[in-house]
Amino acid sequence: MTSLHFAPPLNWMNDPNGLVFHDGRYHLFFQHNPLGTVHENISWGHASSLDLATWELHPLAIPFDEDEEIFSGSIVLDGEGSTGLGTPESPALIAFYTSMSKRDGTQAQSIAYSLDAGTSWTKYAGNPVLDRGSLDFRDPKVFRWTGADDSYWVMIAAEAEDRQMVLYRSDDLLSWTHLSTFGPAGAVGGVWECPDLFPLRLEGTDETHWVLLVSLNPGGIAGGSGTQYFVGDFDGTAFTPLEPRRPVESSESEGMRELDWLDYGRDCYAGVTFSGLPDDERTLIAWMGNWDYAREMPVDPRAPQRGAMTLPRRLSLVSEAGRPVLRQTPIGPELAEETRLEGLEITDRTELAMPVPAAGRIEATVAVGGAAGFALRLDGEEGRSVELSYDAGTGELRLDRRGAAAGLPDSFGSVERMPIGSGVPLEAAEPIELVIWIDERAIEVYADGGVRVLTDLVGGLRAPRISVEGVDGSVALTSITSAGSVASAAA
Ligand code: FRU
Repeated sequence: MTSLHFAPPLNWMNDPNGLVFHDGRYHLFFQHNPLGTVHENISWGHASSLDLATWELHPLAIPFDEDEEIFSGSIVLDGEGSTGLGTPESPALIAFYTSMSKRDGTQAQSIAYSLDAGTSWTKYAGNPVLDRGSLDFRDPKVFRWTGADDSYWVMIAAEAEDRQMVLYRSDDLLSWTHLSTFGPAGAVGGVWECPDLFPLRLEGTDETHWVLLVSLNPGGIAGGSGTQYFVGDFDGTAFTPLEPRRPVESSESEGMRELDWLDYGRDCYAGVTFSGLPDDERTLIAWMGNWDYAREMPVDPRAPQRGAMTLPRRLSLVSEAGRPVLRQTPIGPELAEETRLEGLEITDRTELAMPVPAAGRIEATVAVGGAAGFALRLDGEEGRSVELSYDAGTGELRLDRRGAAAGLPDSFGSVERMPIGSGVPLEAAEPIELVIWIDERAIEVYADGGVRVLTDLVGGLRAPRISVEGVDGSVALTSITSAGSVASAAA
């Protein structure tokens, strides 16, 4: 399959784990069943990349055993020898993972370390390093906090059923003391998982805020798995959001829309960022899946595998209608060929004389004028299609993938809705700019300069043609470019 998205060639994959930039290489570990296409025998798989576009697959990093499965977590470089596990010549990479006990279901935080830049891993003899006797305590993210006169390690992890994130501190990465607890707050219609907490400078200012990512399942904005975020401050002890957020159940649609969502699609979950990069290169990768149906997705018998990652996305903080919000800039591969059309007035559905890349990018600028909206459709083989449309009445972009749902699990057919217009009503003449990354597997739509993102699997959309239509009037397709195709990004 021609792909922009990392996927292991065989077997099951879900969350990204232990994202770390080390010695010039981006390492991507991932939740992986080395023995099959179901969510069992969970271990950490491993791939790495020099450019975030082409990935090299490595041997299994941390395998499950008779006692435990290796659930999600993070990696830091113990550059100062806090643990005593490395040497000044070979500092240790420390992987924090959740030990999922096969005996009694307890979830506790454990360590494995690598003295050869992530190639081989040894479990620490004193595991677990943090055990609360909980059945739902998982997904540790560790980072270094440096305050005015203090510096130590911080771990944030989920008490999933309580809809809480708990924070701990340590000097040696081995013994941990409780700092604070955040939540329940914001969306609470499902368990909380896979936290991340990091600082970002508000673009154009000297202000820095901290962003807390909270994946929740179910209860996401598009149904099933989804990720909300909070912008606030972290003082070395507690995270405090700038705007207090009362707990919101997923049935409260108004309340859900007021929250901040990393992605409005159904297939962007458990996203976390790399450690080891400067703060202004904060980069996220998420699992392109949804627990609503991930386990039932069909498997190609010639290369049985399930699961893929989103494109890596650089994160920044920008001000929108007076509030700091996240902006995501996708990092895709270099694209060779580009076709461009300009200045088209479109009323009836019109097929565009341009190739749709098997894997690549479409950029469109559309002014709605007096029309009620527009629709951009991709029609592939076997009658499969997805439609992206804009409704000027509601200011929403919609992605309808029901046309691509044949043969897929029932809950896959869906229409996603994303408000666009940077929080202010659009003038009719104001063009809407969309950046769309597409391959056979998925579509990633970036609007409002990347402040609004929608990621959906499309279930195998081969050789699509592209057409555009004005809804109740004519629209100006100021320009549209298509660039691709690229060689397979998956190892
Ligand atoms: C998120 C998650 C994590 C857990 C892992 C198990 O998708 O449920 O909370 O650690 O997957 O594979």
